[in-house]
Amino acid sequence: MTKKSKHTGIFITFEGGEGAGKSSQIKLLQEKLEGVNFKTLVTREPGGTAGAEAVRHVILSGHAEKMGADVEAMLFAAARADHVERVIRPAINAGKIVLCDRFFDSTRVYQGSFGKVSMELLHSLEHIACDDIWPDLTLILDIPPQEGMKRASMRRKKGDTPDRFEKENMNAQQIKRDAFRRLTEDEPERCKLINAMGTEKQVASRIWKAVKPLLPNKKPSGKPANDR
Ligand code: TYD
Repeated sequence: MTKKSKHTGIFITFEGGEGAGKSSQIKLLQEKLEGVNFKTLVTREPGGTAGAEAVRHVILSGHAEKMGADVEAMLFAAARADHVERVIRPAINAGKIVLCDRFFDSTRVYQGSFGKVSMELLHSLEHIACDDIWPDLTLILDIPPQEGMKRASMRRKKGDTPDRFEKENMNAQQIKRDAFRRLTEDEPERCKLINAMGTEKQVASRIWKAVKPLLPNKKPSGKPANDR
């Protein structure tokens, strides 16, 4: 299901399993876009507003786990509704390029494909939470689970305890990877699979190739945007 946003800004979401390198790549893309005069906003889920950060704490601490994946999906959607209205929609209306670390595709994969919540419920929640704010492009950073888990554990500071999702095993990571890959088959126009193996620079250039066609031809300064 693809919905076209009617707004002036651009909405790009980043998805993928643990340790795929989303946050570093978001930072690199932001720098690149700002470098050619685009205004950007970087945000993340679960979170992005005070209310959503509070929900994030409830979910990641594991307190919602015993209520089941349906309730977890509803909590993610509630946090998302606040995030969309207070942060994403205003930025898109102001013509910014919004880069969001995870969005509803994470719910489709983690609570849907993995947690067995029905897609029907998830789609209803998406419509309530997002309304007409739909990603223009979703970049799915794809990495073998062994590599992702290795990177994620290296990234964790000594003494940090893994969150509720990081505790899951390799098999769980594989199920999620397969589900993310299927998204690119279901919605090939919106969802692009990005090979996240290799150097940061190599991955960044794959991402740039996917983002470039979306950018308006004219830079805000009036110079052609492709002129770089
Ligand atoms: P986070 O620390 O932000 O992890 P990451 O660096 O992997 O993005 O934790 C977010 C966790 O929440 C992550 O394991 C994925 C999970 N999640 C869901 O299960 N459903 C969702 O809708 C979202 C947005 C995240």
